[in-house]
Amino acid sequence: MKRPYITIKFAQTLDGKIAAQQGSASRISGPLALRFAHRLRSRHDAVLVGIGTVLADNPQLTTRLVTGKNPVRVVLDSHLRIIPVPGTRILRNVKKDGVIIFATQKATKSKIKALKSRGVEVIIVPGCKRGNIDLTQILRILYKKGVKKLLVEGGSEIITSFIKKQLADKIVIITAPVIFGCGMPAARLNLKLKLKSVKRMGGDIACEFVPGRVSQ
Ligand SMILES: NC(=O)c1ccc[n+]([C@@H]2O[C@H](COP(=O)([O-])OP(=O)(O)OC[C@H]3O[C@@H](n4cnc5c(N)ncnc54)[C@H](OP(=O)(O)O)[C@@H]3O)[C@@H](O)[C@H]2O)c1
Repeated sequence: MKRPYITIKFAQTLDGKIAAQQGSASRISGPLALRFAHRLRSRHDAVLVGIGTVLADNPQLTTRLVTGKNPVRVVLDSHLRIIPVPGTRILRNVKKDGVIIFATQKATKSKIKALKSRGVEVIIVPGCKRGNIDLTQILRILYKKGVKKLLVEGGSEIITSFIKKQLADKIVIITAPVIFGCGMPAARLNLKLKLKSVKRMGGDIACEFVPGRVSQ
């Protein structure tokens, strides 16, 4: 299948957590790592997150800290839970940069209409076994739309789905010197990785890996 080159990127604590608890907002890494994340976005055609991340973090997913184009922003949101959330930052500058939301038949017509009227491209795709959006389908659609490089920024469920389906070419992990002691892991699976590079970013460390075999 023709699909975009996929990089998964997330920031974690020393004890491997990407958020203090399910649904809580996450700002784990420092300013240099944040700039690095924006540069990474500018080198991708699109950046993808799950609706859990939109609801918890209300991210903009732009490149505002660096010079470079904003990627198209893509959200996986079966029921269009993004509505009605007032002040959703991802829905700003929709017409300029482009926002695509993948949903399933479970989304109501009125929600689809409301998003379309704001310039959002809503694409209805079939759900797969567990009701989640079928990743193979959306990757095919994104590729056809010219997305050759896709950055996946989380959260945990999305990262787990992509890795389980062997849909990651590169994984970039920023590790910050903080321990939560509890919280949400980046992925709920057992995966071996091959280290490609290590870079210090202020107080944080950025490591690039090639994912290996997933043990279920
Ligand atoms: N530290 C970091 O770098 C970082 C980055 C991003 C997020 N986070 C944190 O991660 C947390 C959110 O993660 P999360 O796991 O709750 O939510 P998530 O991964 O952002 O979104 C998961 C939701 O996406 C939808 N979805 C649709 N198709 C899917 C598929 N094929 N696979 C997986 N999900 C699919 C499902 O909702 P529907 O069934 O409603 O469609 C699912 O519940 C927040 O606390 C956020 O702060 C941290």
